[in-house]
Amino acid sequence: MSKFFKKITIIKPDDWHVHLRENTMLSKVINYTGIFYERAIIMPNLENPIINCKQSINYRKQILQAQSNHVKFQPLMTCYLTDFTKSKELEIGFNKKIFIAAKLYPKNSTTNSQIGIKNINNIYSILEIMEKIGMPLLIHGEETDHNIDIYDREAKFLETTLEPIQKKFPSLKIVLEHITTKESVDYVIERNSPYLAATITPHHLILNRNHMFENGINPYLYCLPILKRKIHQTALRNAISSGNKSFFLGSDTAPHYYKNKINITGCAGIFNAPSSLLIYATVFEEMQALQHFQSFCSENGPKFYNLPINEKTITLIRKPHKIIDQIKIGKNTIIPFLAGQILNWSIDI
Ligand code: NCD
Ligand code: ZN
Repeated sequence: MSKFFKKITIIKPDDWHVHLRENTMLSKVINYTGIFYERAIIMPNLENPIINCKQSINYRKQILQAQSNHVKFQPLMTCYLTDFTKSKELEIGFNKKIFIAAKLYPKNSTTNSQIGIKNINNIYSILEIMEKIGMPLLIHGEETDHNIDIYDREAKFLETTLEPIQKKFPSLKIVLEHITTKESVDYVIERNSPYLAATITPHHLILNRNHMFENGINPYLYCLPILKRKIHQTALRNAISSGNKSFFLGSDTAPHYYKNKINITGCAGIFNAPSSLLIYATVFEEMQALQHFQSFCSENGPKFYNLPINEKTITLIRKPHKIIDQIKIGKNTIIPFLAGQILNWSIDI
């Protein structure tokens, strides 16, 4: 049926997981989010992470200054949790709307997570306060014990960490971010709780781990959590096309310079801001589930965060759109996800 759609108009979406970085990189990537999204949750894992209100206020200012007038979006800031986070700081930050949520990075789980949480028990007093004040906890859900196979780290995390947190803090709002496995999909569906939601990235919807090794190794597809087997990709695609309200959009757009991606120890992260919404549209269409596209992109997220749904709309038209080849930043370059490839949907501007 969907092949007859020439246009899709939906409420303007929000991206609930975005890495903008700082300085020149920030100024070069920011509009790609602004073109498509009305609000974006900004990840705090800078080289010098955002761990208090003062840093967050300054970072937000930097973001607002970097925005162009015609592509403004609202940045929603997050606090990076460490073993030293003070509950007062979080509470004040949340009440004053400096922070919308706090982010849990298990120590050494991903980019700039060296000062993340070593042991979840260390922050139980923080979680208690967050539950009390209704502040959402955003989780990078991977076990970091290096004896655990990298492909099993997310599933293991559900058992060792998420389950105990949920038992102890049943009304703590949790977003299990960028889920990549059938186990996580099943967990969220079975819970069926207003306190638990999950975001899903465009790249985990269109790729599986085979793609990383097609015609040689593809460092551009390296991200964390790492791409999984096809059965997991299928579970994610089924989750979004079921219309289940516990799943919503979080692109995890994560720019890195070419020199840092193509490196002997290349960085994890995929810069998908130029294509994310167009990819989601493609997947919903392939799954014949365009009737659930708007709720995934624009309704389920605000509902979870108790925010109003956006008033503006966005229209995608069926017209070939080529993703830019590269973004030059001085002597450096960022190669976006699907660089140079043609997608079926374009934004109508
Ligand atoms: C992200 C980054 O580069 O900041 N990388 C990634 O592979 N997703 C961090 C993260 O969200 O894990
Ligand atoms: Zn991320």
